[in-house]
Amino acid sequence: MIEKIRQTAEYISRRINGNHPDTAIILGTGLGALVDHIENKKYIPYAEIPNFPVSTVEGHSGNLIFGTLGSKPIMAMQGRFHYYEGYDMKQVTFPVRVMKALGINTLYVSNAAGGMNKEFKVGDIMIITDHINLFPENPLRGKNYEELGPRFPAMTEAYDHKLIGLADEIASRKGIRVMHGVYVGVPGPTFETPAEYEYFRIIGGDAVGMSTVPEVIVANHSGMKVFGVSVITDLGGKDVTEVPTHEDVQKAAQSAQPKMMEIMRELVNSVK
Ligand code: HPA
Repeated sequence: MIEKIRQTAEYISRRINGNHPDTAIILGTGLGALVDHIENKKYIPYAEIPNFPVSTVEGHSGNLIFGTLGSKPIMAMQGRFHYYEGYDMKQVTFPVRVMKALGINTLYVSNAAGGMNKEFKVGDIMIITDHINLFPENPLRGKNYEELGPRFPAMTEAYDHKLIGLADEIASRKGIRVMHGVYVGVPGPTFETPAEYEYFRIIGGDAVGMSTVPEVIVANHSGMKVFGVSVITDLGGKDVTEVPTHEDVQKAAQSAQPKMMEIMRELVNSVK
């Protein structure tokens, strides 16, 4: 694994002429349009990157994008690898390992999620304050390489409090409603039964989705700071009768995109 990470990082480093950003963004459903705001873009299709898995799911194209957002040099992942697609946890999180090897110290992640919190509305933005890992496997299972991180990493502040505070300030200044909440990470690909949404709420979850948790675990293992945000694309629970579809999720995520964009752009640029 160490050798693969090194190989891949070296390849990417060559493609970007050694100009390494310290900030990365994983553009999930809901933040795809951020790409239009990245300037001086250089695309590297996943298919060209040695050791990279290839993204398959509808609505996700697979590219690494290097460029600047505002005045900040960044690296973005356009499309991520989901566990439900059949990738194993090491594949899902491989790009985060490569990010670390390239010198990334702050990771921004976004996703679409179903809301269980009764205060939430479709189209809301939820800043992730914590998560509950319900994937059947932890990405750190197996041999630990000390050079990548500790055997038993703490997850006490998996989502950086300072970044959350900054995002709150930005949202409040711009008059954008943001919620806070706990993200429950599940394998999917089924959406939840009403009883499952209810169960996730009772155990302390506010929103549920099929990504993010593996990448955030590995980012923390690597010593990165993480900021995560969900777009609430559907609601679930005992009293909810609407049936979520992939199309609805995409549509709701799109409508929240401008708000997400504004916060992210300023947040990324406010971190020195
Ligand atoms: N459940 C799981 N994942 C999701 C949902 C949901 O309701 N909405 C968007 N991603």
